[in-house]
Amino acid sequence: MIRMDTVERLVSVVDSNIEQMVRMAILHIIQLGTKHGIFKVLSREPTYQEVLDSVGLPNRRLLLEFLNTLKAIGIIEEKEGRLKLNGFSCTLKVPQEHYDSLLPGWVSTLEEIYRMVDYAFITPTHPHVLMDFDKDADFWDIRMTTDFADLYRKTISVAAGLEQGMSVLDLGCGSAAPSYFGRIVGYDGFYTGVDYSSAILEIAKSRAETDNLPVELKELDVRLIRPVNEYDVAVISYLLEYLKPDDYGRVLKRTLETLKPGGRLIILEPFREEFKHIEALEFFEKLNKDFVGFPRRNDVIRTIEGNGFDVSIEPLGRSLLRVTLMP
Ligand SMILES: C[S@@+](CC[C@H](N)C(=O)[O-])C[C@H]1O[C@@H](n2cnc3c(N)ncnc32)[C@H](O)[C@@H]1O
Repeated sequence: MIRMDTVERLVSVVDSNIEQMVRMAILHIIQLGTKHGIFKVLSREPTYQEVLDSVGLPNRRLLLEFLNTLKAIGIIEEKEGRLKLNGFSCTLKVPQEHYDSLLPGWVSTLEEIYRMVDYAFITPTHPHVLMDFDKDADFWDIRMTTDFADLYRKTISVAAGLEQGMSVLDLGCGSAAPSYFGRIVGYDGFYTGVDYSSAILEIAKSRAETDNLPVELKELDVRLIRPVNEYDVAVISYLLEYLKPDDYGRVLKRTLETLKPGGRLIILEPFREEFKHIEALEFFEKLNKDFVGFPRRNDVIRTIEGNGFDVSIEPLGRSLLRVTLMP
């Protein structure tokens, strides 16, 4: 039986941590603007071109992205072709009701990413930029094995009612989730993980072998999946942000087709309409060339509804969606 109070408590801790990631990202955006003299130039109400010419950063595409981020957050506005600092202010909250819920593990991985931006401002292919899934699989593995990743996986498994003996399909599985879910379903069940990064799957495979777990891993772009098995649970966590809406529409349709009646699909993402100023966090995630943007929850729901399945769709907190295929 799924304890909804447990699910809600877990999701709220996930949400508090995402909220704090966004707040810290805003601070680092302000730090970058100060450090590279961008705010100094902006105080003269320049045009886009004047900023690009005055700030001596070689990667102009990233600088443009930075200006667009400032605009999206509301730190600057554009009037008659000129950019203007508009007295932005925001409150930094450490949520009192969850004062003990902030997890330390994700902070150092985000700090690494903030540092990478300085190198990316020189060139996007700088060797100190470690955001490529294949080339930098080790860095991704560190991100996927934090206490925060453990927390959201626990949240997913509780929300799905995952138990020993069940079958799981995990799309964009990464390097750590296969062992986590494989351990829960055990030898009576089975787990299939799909990911397009051979280097990430290599880490997942060696971890599963060390722990002697029955997981099947497939190297494949999820946009091409045609799964044939019937699964009790499908997991899509931190994947939709790498897919364009047309592509994720197809992926969601195929995923729902593989569920058994009564089966559940759990989608986890920082849904963009739920986290104000999420563009600050996106600026850093865009150092990965495949990052598209965090999806809107309403778009995901509409896409699922448009596919004609008989489903119940439950938003849980601000970052989880549970879709149950009606028996
Ligand atoms: C941020 S990680 C999340 C991993 C895992 N789902 C988790 O929550 O820990 C995103 C993963 O999705 C994979 N990925 C991204 N786009 C993909 C695609 N089109 N097809 C297959 N895998 C993809 C990446 O290789 C990476 O391992």
